[in-house]
Amino acid sequence: MSGAARPLGRSAVVCGIGSYVPPDKVTNDELSRRLDTSDAWIRSRTGIAERYVVSPGTATSDLAVEAGLRALKSASTEQVDAVVLATTTPDQPCPATAPAVAARLGLGQVAAFDVAAVCSGFLYGLATSSGLIASGMAERVLLVAADAFTTIINPEDRTTAVIFADGAGAVVLRAGDAGEPGAVGPMVLGSDGELSHLIEVPAGGSRQRSAGTPPEPGDQYFRMLGRDTYRHAVERMTATSQEAAELSGWRLDDVDRFAAHQANARILDSVAERLGIPAERQLSNIEQVGNTGAASLPLLLSQSAAEGRLTAGHRVLLTAFGGGLSWGAATLVWPEVQSV
Ligand code: UT7
Repeated sequence: MSGAARPLGRSAVVCGIGSYVPPDKVTNDELSRRLDTSDAWIRSRTGIAERYVVSPGTATSDLAVEAGLRALKSASTEQVDAVVLATTTPDQPCPATAPAVAARLGLGQVAAFDVAAVCSGFLYGLATSSGLIASGMAERVLLVAADAFTTIINPEDRTTAVIFADGAGAVVLRAGDAGEPGAVGPMVLGSDGELSHLIEVPAGGSRQRSAGTPPEPGDQYFRMLGRDTYRHAVERMTATSQEAAELSGWRLDDVDRFAAHQANARILDSVAERLGIPAERQLSNIEQVGNTGAASLPLLLSQSAAEGRLTAGHRVLLTAFGGGLSWGAATLVWPEVQSV
């Protein structure tokens, strides 16, 4: 699915951005003390050196509220018409977590719902939020992407425990013109449910519950077939980035900043190489934060903007890939905005 922004149409425009990571940092050496792994393996195979994790009792909404507060502050607003939360780790299976986030942010009885697209969640949320604005249903939307991913990771599984981490990022979108900086440009979204088994939590849903038998040990945890996922991530993020650039009328040479879901540094290098985007135009924070699921992209944008690596006027190409399988890409000219 793809859609070009209408050149003169009403469009969603980024007017605020913020992010949050929990205070507890875990280094590769700390992980190596309890798992059969090493700092050298993790760094060389993933590019990750450290990551932030939630402390006992902290939930996704706690991260989302912090990031949401910062984005609202950045946008200098206390009012939105909807809250969209992209997450794979809702506080509970029912209800959605977004209404609690909206209430805790003091946003009143606004529309609030979750979007589940695993690591592509921010882009799916961006498409949904943009649609609410473009259709005239909303003037302003708070889009939060938050994951307490470590809460679904099997602590004994070295293939996932070294990669996934926790965090949140949020943007405020307002109604504006498709031609102005910050306007969400053409987007491409896709999925392949034939390959849903590559990334999954087997138990806890209606399939397992209706069977009437307890889950198999370990089935409550996240599982990823790393090698196959790796290959699809490279292919999909490359192809979908090309499509979004083309829809925007951009050559890949025009891209000032490439922001890809921080899945694995080797994946990012491979995608950038295929697209011909040099290292100095890639944004990356995987070394410091790991793979934070849906939060990855807005956390990357927020931290890059705060550090001055992403500035007003930069033509940004965004792409993500995750469970589902799901993927997407979008373009954006970065607006004059203060990341909080
Ligand atoms: O965010 C959503 C999308 N996610 C992704 O796109 C992630 C995609 N996949 C990956 O990033 C990589 O596949 C991993 C980082 C998960 C694994 O890296 P890899 O280079 O594909 O390693 P591998 O799975 O081919 O495993 C190579 C070896 C294996 O040992 P043998 O069979 O060769 O003896 C693994 O058992 O490395 C072993 N291994 C480890 N060794 C030390 C796997 N995990 C670890 C570990 N420490 N943590």
